[in-house]
Amino acid sequence: MHEEDYGVKHEVKVRPTGETLGATIEGLDLSKPLPANVLAEVMQALGKYGVLRFPEQHLQGKDLKQFSLQLGDLEINVAGGFQEPGHPEVMILSNMVENGKPVGLSDAGQDWHTDMSYSRQIAFANVLYGIKIPRRDGRALGNTEFCNMHAAYDGLPGEMKKKLDGMTVLHDFNKFWELMRGREGSGRAPLSDAQRKAKPPVSHPIFLTHPITARKVLYANPGYSIRINELSEKESEETLAFLFAHQTQQKYRYANRWEERDVLVWEDFGTIHNAIPDYLPHEHRLIKRCQVMATRFFNSGEP
Ligand code: SIN
Repeated sequence: MHEEDYGVKHEVKVRPTGETLGATIEGLDLSKPLPANVLAEVMQALGKYGVLRFPEQHLQGKDLKQFSLQLGDLEINVAGGFQEPGHPEVMILSNMVENGKPVGLSDAGQDWHTDMSYSRQIAFANVLYGIKIPRRDGRALGNTEFCNMHAAYDGLPGEMKKKLDGMTVLHDFNKFWELMRGREGSGRAPLSDAQRKAKPPVSHPIFLTHPITARKVLYANPGYSIRINELSEKESEETLAFLFAHQTQQKYRYANRWEERDVLVWEDFGTIHNAIPDYLPHEHRLIKRCQVMATRFFNSGEP
């Protein structure tokens, strides 16, 4: 990619990881608006590689929000309560405690899932900025892992693709909540009736056509998917168990190892992800996150 940017000739390098997902993009300063054709190339790269790493960024919360807004509408997550002051679109993820109070949400995303698949309005992308990354013996901890849902769809048996085509999956926020609640030391209370009513289970097609690559992806995930609506309960259970094992096979996996000042962007149609909690309370992790909604591609018409 080449672009006349900031008054100087600017070269943007996309360096694929060579693995099933992931590329590093160098040469961009995300604190400044991206020219339209650079943004278009970033979007193409996001579809193609699923996960993009932009190293050596220097961003305040407001800059992260401005960059994320270039990808689409942002969610305001009111549930967690850990938001950047003045910028509620920026969520704080952290295991740190200051003056006896948690600095951020400490257990976000710690199992395989797709953000917002439980919502009628699904998500397009996540934008995370690494501020403190835990290390032990020089090795970064707290990887974010991904699985490739283009490849998982391609790898399904042909008969299954045919049979499931046109079917829908029910996704439930409470499934992942209960999974996290069951973890040792979890401070999460069960969702109240009012909270459950506010987030009722919703259905989405089991296969989506990816809006950037125009290829099919498997849109089901172990964190939120509870039922294939068109199958009997037993067949749904067996099929979901098969799909969860299939989509998380090692051959579809990619692990992002964080560096401080990385911006990591991934798209939520062609990937599922898992935040690995392999660090201790004194090994500090601090990440800021924006959630980009998919309104530009799939607009449910609901907030
Ligand atoms: C998430 O699921 O958005 C959290 C990812 C992470 O903290 O690595």
